Amino acid sequence: MGKELRLIGYPIQHSLSPWIHGEFFGRAGIKGNYRLHEIPLSDNLEEGVRALKEVGVDGFNVTVPYKQEIIPFLDGLDKTAERMGAVNTVAVENGKWIGYNTDGTGYLRSLEHSYPAVTKGDVKTLILGAGGAARAIYFALADAGFKAVDIANRTKESAQQIVSHGATQAESRVLSLTEAEVGIHNYGLVIQTSSVGMKPNPERAIVSATGMRPAAIASDIVYQPIMTKFLKDAGEAGALLHMGHTMLIYQAQAAFEIWTGRKVSAEDMDRQLQAKLEGR
Ligand code: ATR
Repeated sequence: MGKELRLIGYPIQHSLSPWIHGEFFGRAGIKGNYRLHEIPLSDNLEEGVRALKEVGVDGFNVTVPYKQEIIPFLDGLDKTAERMGAVNTVAVENGKWIGYNTDGTGYLRSLEHSYPAVTKGDVKTLILGAGGAARAIYFALADAGFKAVDIANRTKESAQQIVSHGATQAESRVLSLTEAEVGIHNYGLVIQTSSVGMKPNPERAIVSATGMRPAAIASDIVYQPIMTKFLKDAGEAGALLHMGHTMLIYQAQAAFEIWTGRKVSAEDMDRQLQAKLEGR
């Protein structure tokens, strides 16, 4: 019998995860299904989760808005998920539901794939935004040995919380968005983690990236549109670009690895996914 995998969240009708995992199943030569299990906000999460148990799934991904709410239904958390207080992957291990979080690893793998040299950690880094994605990325970078990782956010307290939770070796300062924009030329890597600039407001950017220095890397986790205003401006300033859809592929690769024990190559999937997102 093949692996039975699911995605829970709402809304997920347009999710690209079934395509991504279908591709991984094919590449690994493993039989299985990855299906959407949408749980509308009006429904009870507990009932939705019970339905999953009845199906007897091998694992599932969790997306917005259930990444934190799922935790009480799990039997355990791995270290990263525990530190994050959020779960994006659940694996059924000996009948127990164990929560993981592959967002940070996925981000780091995607960055490494595009720019292998940068992940050595010597580059001064700025994270824009301080939500769940920023937290995952901050810890992943700090764990990977990045020495200087600043965070800028509209609400400074949220950025401060991430930094203080710390227990990392990274030296970090908390900045306002204005300070970030003025000082953006000081960074070799700038990572945009907020939802600002996402459809239906693609004309927006959390800060102007026009002051980035040439050959610095501008990274945006928004992938609809693929070419955000933040990336366009950074590109015009001569920065190198790292696009959000690649994180989607690598967080899925890390989840697939947890479920199957197989690390499947994601080679060329970024190009295919980009074409899908651009409706080609
Ligand atoms: P998630 O947890 O899914 O990453 P989130 O909690 O909605 O998403 O966080 C989104 C981030 O985008 C936050 O840092 C938020 O800033 P605040 O902490 O001040 O709310 C940031 N953000 C969202 N809309 C913004 C806007 N219009 N301008 C500036 N920052 C914004």
